[in-house]
Amino acid sequence: FKALIMLGIVTLVLTACGKENLTALDPKGYGAEKSMDLMILSTVIMAAVFIVVMLIFTVVIIRFRRKKGQEDFIPKQVEGNHTLEIVWTAIPIILVFILAVPTVMSVFDLADEADASSSINIEVTGNQYWWHFDYAGEEIQTSQDLYIPVNEKVYLDINSTDVIHSFWVPTISGKMDANPENTNTMFIEAYEEGVYWGKCAEFCGPSHSLMDFKIVVVSQEEYDQWVEDMQNVDPEVQVEDAVAQEGQELFEANNCMGCHAIGSSPVAVGPNLTNFANRTTLAGVEDLTKENIVSWLLDPEAMKPGNKMTGNYPELTEDEAGSIAEYLMQLSHSDITPESASN
Ligand code: CUA
Repeated sequence: FKALIMLGIVTLVLTACGKENLTALDPKGYGAEKSMDLMILSTVIMAAVFIVVMLIFTVVIIRFRRKKGQEDFIPKQVEGNHTLEIVWTAIPIILVFILAVPTVMSVFDLADEADASSSINIEVTGNQYWWHFDYAGEEIQTSQDLYIPVNEKVYLDINSTDVIHSFWVPTISGKMDANPENTNTMFIEAYEEGVYWGKCAEFCGPSHSLMDFKIVVVSQEEYDQWVEDMQNVDPEVQVEDAVAQEGQELFEANNCMGCHAIGSSPVAVGPNLTNFANRTTLAGVEDLTKENIVSWLLDPEAMKPGNKMTGNYPELTEDEAGSIAEYLMQLSHSDITPESASN
């Protein structure tokens, strides 16, 4: 019964209820499928060993129990049995091989490096507490939502600007550390269109658990369209709405662009805001609504402790924050959105 409760807890943790596609148990990508196969293999072997050991254990305690009237009886003592010793050495060795061979094969399989002809190569940078994506070949810079085409190997160069993070989208792939000192490489390949939730999987500070991101998997045509849209983002373009215009002026006057670029500028002190209004969440975890943006602008520390925005821009009134939020909600640069990917 205890084991059942433990299994329930583990399942809950692995499926992380409430967030879309945040489970390692329903793989929709190459790496996740490999991990799942290995998990099933090792679980089956462990279950078999457990059952056999428990059966022998039960037989022994029943057969050799102290019986009434035989309190002083001691069963025959056996010392050394070559056959038995060989058997119980050989069986674990065979089991280790059955586990090790597919594991090592999968490790080599997943270590496939990008070659010159590989189409998509993205630099992924972990920051306290957000993710930056640099599509070097396409000259696209973006943050938080990573768009990739379905059924296509996408190669990632993963690093960090500050401390060690770990890039993890459990439904698509395994984890990869994001180190400040060196670049790790991995590839991801998603089998189904949709939005997949990603987590930072290495403790990196007070907002580690809020360092979420998404992979948006779209069709090849949608991806090509999205790339074209992103390449044509003009950060200077004036918004139409009057309140949003006020927000845009405040955005410029307060030098928000000193940290947050819009378009393909490489400035990446804070998240790039290209296509901001099409993101699925604000700051990784909150719903992307005007109210939440206002709360964020008035007190980012409350929403994401330890973030680098706190204290690095002039204090805003609620009205000013509202106008900036209105402006940010106009930053939609493509018709290809997470909603269109989910349909
Ligand atoms: Cu970044 Cu944990």
